Order: sequence, then C-alpha cells, then structure tokens
Amino acid sequence: MTPTMHLIRRIASTGALLGLLGLAGLPGLPGLPLARAADTAPHEFQGANRVKGQQYYTDLKCAACHAERMMGSASAMYTRPDRKVHNPKQLLAFTQMCVTQLNHDLFPEEVKDIAAYLNQTYYKFK
Ligand code: HEC
Repeated sequence: MTPTMHLIRRIASTGALLGLLGLAGLPGLPGLPLARAADTAPHEFQGANRVKGQQYYTDLKCAACHAERMMGSASAMYTRPDRKVHNPKQLLAFTQMCVTQLNHDLFPEEVKDIAAYLNQTYYKFK
C-alpha cells in the first residue's frame, strides 16, 4: 500500500470512529477516554480501547500478511464471503490465534483492543 493510501485509510477510519461516537451520543467530556468502546459494543469488547487496538494492528503489521493472501487487499480478509468470523467470540479467538502465530506476547486486554478495533471497522457485531 502506498503511503498516501495508508494516510487516506487512517483518516477514513478515524472519521468512522468519530462518527460512531457521535451517533452513540457520547459527550466529549474532558478527561473522558473517547477511545473506550461505546456501550453499544458487544459485551465481549466492553471497555476495549479501539484506538490502541488500531495502533497494535499497525505496529504488528497484521495487514501486510492478510493483503498478501487476498490479492493485495488486507480488508478482504474480513469481508470475504467465506470469512471465518461470525460473532464476537470467534473474532477474539481468531485475533488471538494470529497474534500467537506471530509469536507476539500480548495481554488479553491488548488482544481485546485489536478485536474491538476490527469489529468497529469491519465486522460491526452489535
Ligand atoms: C503471517 C500471516 C498473518 C499475519 C501476520 C496475521 N494474520 Fe490474521 N490471518 C492469516 C490467515 C492466513 C488468515 C485466514 C485463515 C483461514 O482462513 O483459516 C487470517 C485470518 C484472520 C482473521 C479472521 C478473518 C475472517 O475470516 O473473518 C482475523 C480476525 C485475523 N486474521 C486477525 C489478525 C491480526 C489481528 C493480526 C495481527 C496481530 C493478524 N491477523 C496477522 C494470516 C496472518
């Protein structure tokens, strides 16, 4: 992915996050961690920090490998018709599996942050 595309995607996903928070009616109170998942998130992702999740996702280069397998489109891994994840539990499990395969030692909370980010961006389980 070119740096420009990357930037556009970042801006787009930030916009989506802000839009979602707006829809959820979260007031931007000072000191309120806006990155926390709104109450509409599935209970599996309650309290997750999706902004951190996106950061881990970028840092761990998850997209590169997925893109390689999906003819250049990383998001296709989550949107393909025969995707493997059908509910929040499976999303957590798959995220954990890929993290483990990468030999990264993350805390369960951090895995949850990533899964919550993927849910917000792609799966949109309620
Ligand atoms: C070395 C390659 C590789 C890396 C790096 C990788 N993955 Fe994956 N991931 C895969 C493959 C291959 C699949 C599809 C597995 C299948 O279809 O059974 C997959 C599938 C997934 C799925 C399920 C997609 C679906 O079908 O709904 C999730 C979620 C996921 N990965 C998350 C992550 C996260 C988060 C990271 C970074 C921490 C990551 N992956 C890094 C190879 C990788």
